[in-house]
Amino acid sequence: MRSIDEITSNRRMRRNRRFEWNRRLVRENTLSLNDLIWPIFVTEGTGIVEPLATLKNVDRYSVDEAAKAAKRAFNLGIPAIAIFPNIALEKRDLTGSAVLDPDGLVNQAVRAIKLAAPDLGIITDVALDPFTSHGHDGILRDGIIVNDETVEQISRAAVVQARAGADIISCSEMMDGRVGAIRDALNEAGYNDIGILSYTAKFASAFYGPYREAVGTDQMLKGDKSTYFMDPANSDEAIYEAMLDISEGADMIMVKPGMPYLDIIRRLKDEFSMPTFAYQVSGEYAMIMAGVENGFLDEERAIMESMIGFKRAGADAIFTYFAPKVAEILQRKS
Ligand code: PBG
Repeated sequence: MRSIDEITSNRRMRRNRRFEWNRRLVRENTLSLNDLIWPIFVTEGTGIVEPLATLKNVDRYSVDEAAKAAKRAFNLGIPAIAIFPNIALEKRDLTGSAVLDPDGLVNQAVRAIKLAAPDLGIITDVALDPFTSHGHDGILRDGIIVNDETVEQISRAAVVQARAGADIISCSEMMDGRVGAIRDALNEAGYNDIGILSYTAKFASAFYGPYREAVGTDQMLKGDKSTYFMDPANSDEAIYEAMLDISEGADMIMVKPGMPYLDIIRRLKDEFSMPTFAYQVSGEYAMIMAGVENGFLDEERAIMESMIGFKRAGADAIFTYFAPKVAEILQRKS
């Protein structure tokens, strides 16, 4: 029988793993505060900080409280925040017209957060799902999510959000032609410097459940979103989507959900060398927290491992509800 040194020709992978100092020297990827984007949920009213049943330790904030939370996030070193609204049910309609209200919840939150933390990046979203009475991301006509009319609506919404002070406009509704149309609308209104983050590869996923509760669309959504979101079985299609988004003028591209789609992040990063973000969605958060609550997972280690997985896959930044927690962990360790 051969010795191990004969088998490996004297190569021993474990030499570089013996000590923490050695592991640090050969570590290929790192996570830093610079990688974090914190999605928050806002709701009508004042003085409200309400816990969400399916997202342990995530609260929904009224605008005044959101401003305070944003300031805390900024002080923790988080670069940017993303806003998702839970608007009153009676303001929702078939076309999501409330998205155009300059004094709507999102735009109020943008203004309050800008005042509280002027150097915190603010990302808004033009998708219609929090504004429609059916929970779909686009305008529903005769059972069909109509593409071109939706794009017209969200392009106008982009201008309204830019006017409120949003720094980056994101589009999570997967309509065709939206990036180019939003670019045109922003430029026409003089917002040439406002960036576009495209949810380029957004999959029709089961992992969005808790988010839908947080924005109040869980009860109203009929059917699913598979006529506009991507099929989870596809990968080449994400390249095609990215090609179009980039040619239409996307400044950043994103893959969503995150953990089940790390391969897509890697492919897009390799193919396009663009700023590529990952969205660790609500269902991923809930899965980790369910494991933690049951005592099956070590919270800190599970969270940090999920983060480094995104970095290893090639993500430049990560949307995560864990952002404040991760920032605290990073600060403690530095
Ligand atoms: C829809 C939208 C979704 C999320 C953010 N915006 C998905 C959906 O409801 O279909 C999900 C975010 C999450 O699950 O954390 N525009």
